[in-house]
Amino acid sequence: MEVSKETAKSDEWHLVGRVSSFPDIGLEEKCRVLPGCTIKSIPKTEDPEKSRANRLSDLDDQVLVFKYKGFLHAIDNQCPHSSFPLKQGNVFDIEDIGAGIRCFRHGWKFDLFTGKGDRGPHKLSLWDIDLRDPSSVPDGRSSSNDKEVWVRRHAQV
Ligand code: FES
Repeated sequence: MEVSKETAKSDEWHLVGRVSSFPDIGLEEKCRVLPGCTIKSIPKTEDPEKSRANRLSDLDDQVLVFKYKGFLHAIDNQCPHSSFPLKQGNVFDIEDIGAGIRCFRHGWKFDLFTGKGDRGPHKLSLWDIDLRDPSSVPDGRSSSNDKEVWVRRHAQV
């Protein structure tokens, strides 16, 4: 698992790694998020004072990125129910085409494609994902087919 911090505008795109850097957790027996994820802290505000205050609830700024059965997912690393870190969760299939994450704390489940929860109005925040051709000089370990994974906090409507 990789954790990094960044200071930039919250509505900008942020590079979180190459596609090849995300092992498919769907290939593991318990589909746990933690071993195969990347966590990045992207403050919602550019105000250094507010940003410092947010350190108390650092989860509020974190995006959790992982791959499950070939699909990359970027979500808040914070359960909408009671703010438990979702990196501790497990991913599971929803019928034949969907996927969800189960929070380890109280067992609530959230759809990874819609954010919809299985109880009450709580909804998981999903981030936008964009796969881009590598912009840097090839490092010899990854091919040009190994896209960069960029994420952006989804605009609230
Ligand atoms: S904190 Fe996640 S289900 Fe309660």
